[in-house]
Amino acid sequence: MSATMVTIAMPKGRIFEEAAELLRKAGYKLPPEFDDSRKLIIDVPEENLRFILAKPMDVVTYVEHGVADLGIAGKDVMLEEDRDVYEVLDLKISACYLAVAGLPDTTYGVAPKVATKYPKIASSYFREQGEQVEIIKLNGSIELAPLIGLAERIVDIVSTGRTLKENGLVELQRIQDITSRLIVNPVSYRMKDQYIDDMVERLSAVIEGAK
Ligand code: PRP
Repeated sequence: MSATMVTIAMPKGRIFEEAAELLRKAGYKLPPEFDDSRKLIIDVPEENLRFILAKPMDVVTYVEHGVADLGIAGKDVMLEEDRDVYEVLDLKISACYLAVAGLPDTTYGVAPKVATKYPKIASSYFREQGEQVEIIKLNGSIELAPLIGLAERIVDIVSTGRTLKENGLVELQRIQDITSRLIVNPVSYRMKDQYIDDMVERLSAVIEGAK
């Protein structure tokens, strides 16, 4: 019988780099050319692994539909996209947080506009605060919105804080800490439980050791 092949979806860029490092520390042999490849599907037959590289919000879609058994997704994506996948491990990589930000000394009228890539998270945050706002969905470069008068405030990810600073914006409220999570398709978790449990155990050991 052939060995179990496991497909793992992850975003390109920083999460990919940090996840690859974590997998290597957990003993997975990933070839050196792995890191700067432009391929969207990378097979590592020695480890029975296939990687697919996708946009962060789409990783969850691939896992939910079962074309990827596993995925690596930010907690921000998990909160925004209410999907039928299991979150099995906090990888504690790509740490950042969600915050409300805006230009300093702005006065707000009734139902001020809030620009964000996270309409669901932003709506529930302001609802909890008892504040009425109008949410405007954008797909990126959120910091632009207050600068050109599209919105008074934004809800976005802050990592180093450089984007806010260099655009003259200030953080107003911190909403939630974010890290990347290992997510699993429920059917894959039943069919490939041995491989997945082994991976979770090995990654957990690395994460615990790094504390
Ligand atoms: C993210 C986020 C902020 C920025 C924060 O954007 O939306 O804009 O990074 O990082 P910093 O605090 O280190 O400056 P990303 O680069 O993912 O692109 P996007 O604007 O297209 O969402």
